[in-house]
Amino acid sequence: MNNFEFRCPTKVIFGADTISKLKDEIPQDKKILITYGGGSIRKNGVLKQVKEALEGFNYNEFGGIEPNPKYETLLKAIEMVKNEGYDFLLAVGGGSVLDGTKFIAAASKYEGEPWDLITKGVEVKEALELADVITLPATGSEMNCGAVISRLETKEKFPFISEKVYPKFSIIDPKTTYSLPEKQTVNGIVDTFVHVMEQYATYDVNTPLQDQWALGIIKTLLEEGPKVLREPQNYEARANIFWCATCGLNYWISLGCVQDWATHMIGHELTAIYGLDHGETLAIILPSLWRVMKKDKMDKLAKMAIQVYGANEFLPKSLLADITIKKTEKFFHNIGRKTKLKEYGIDPKEAAQEIKRRFSERNTVLGERQNITPDVAYEIVLNA
Ligand code: NZQ
Ligand code: ZN
Repeated sequence: MNNFEFRCPTKVIFGADTISKLKDEIPQDKKILITYGGGSIRKNGVLKQVKEALEGFNYNEFGGIEPNPKYETLLKAIEMVKNEGYDFLLAVGGGSVLDGTKFIAAASKYEGEPWDLITKGVEVKEALELADVITLPATGSEMNCGAVISRLETKEKFPFISEKVYPKFSIIDPKTTYSLPEKQTVNGIVDTFVHVMEQYATYDVNTPLQDQWALGIIKTLLEEGPKVLREPQNYEARANIFWCATCGLNYWISLGCVQDWATHMIGHELTAIYGLDHGETLAIILPSLWRVMKKDKMDKLAKMAIQVYGANEFLPKSLLADITIKKTEKFFHNIGRKTKLKEYGIDPKEAAQEIKRRFSERNTVLGERQNITPDVAYEIVLNA
């Protein structure tokens, strides 16, 4: 096991009807900006619950943060925060709203060009306090310090990470997810699945406990995923899926492990270029990446075939790895998710060429062994 340090300052408040607890968590003297997306929280009554909880508090609203939050929109919020002097941000919505709010929190305290925080690795020295009522189980953003920001002007999408933007608290009420469109529920299941794989399916550094946690999340997803799609109002299934998503990317399963994240980085390009949902890109790239990188990932994929998919432990490792790849693809199909670029009307060769061009220009190499060069990425996308 590799050395690690871990501290998560986020208080998690999990369960039905917990939005009312907002009033106990935010100090009365704060000037609050509630941030949200395209209006789902108005339709499903979440905003109403937030306002009821914050009766008597000093707050205002900023709506319109898009899925794959756009830098151009966030700049408007940053200006509003600076001009009107808010000192607490409350994100209410999915991962995009929360990610966007993390960026607003950091950029509002930064005097330079905000984009530099993302692309130039400028250290975030301080950020506004933020918290959230998260309404979509997928990103784990409610218990991590990452965000992913897109820029319309340049068709780019990059991660942004700073310990200063951990939420102070996250309210996770699984009832808020009853209103999710099926497509978003599937996105969340796939995103969680792939987060776990980015941290588990690399090379073994003797982390049996972390591996069991990771595979425990996967087994739960395989059971609860189809259930939640059959019974969208099933509270227990919604609760289990949400906790899987949170634990899938609160860094817990990756402590002391070796991580990959190439599927995500290639997927981000597909979103930036073609506008596919994050969860759609991952189901396309993961199986192809596993086929191309099978040798490197053989041990972990084989272990997963035995422990998750019930394969015979005496089969050759290569065959076991194939079983994991095929069964995972089958799971994505079973929950209604396509796994090929062509099914979205995208020419794999064109996509592969553009992504190779972008990665070459940026000198990007990916993967746990840093051996996914632009040429290897080309092969992965071409076969996706
Ligand atoms: O905008 P509104 O109207 O709120 O509607 C949203 C949006 O259209 C809707 N929605 C959210 N909660 C709902 C709901 N509709 C009905 N009922 C609810 N309870 O769902 C749509 C998608 O929302 P979005 O926030 O974009 O989805 P998600 O949570 O999957 O976030 C995706 C973004 O997170 C980034 C992705 O790259 C992408 O930009 N990621 C962030 C990570 C992190 N912070 O650690 C890690 C992930 O790998 C991921 O990359
Ligand atoms: Zn993701």
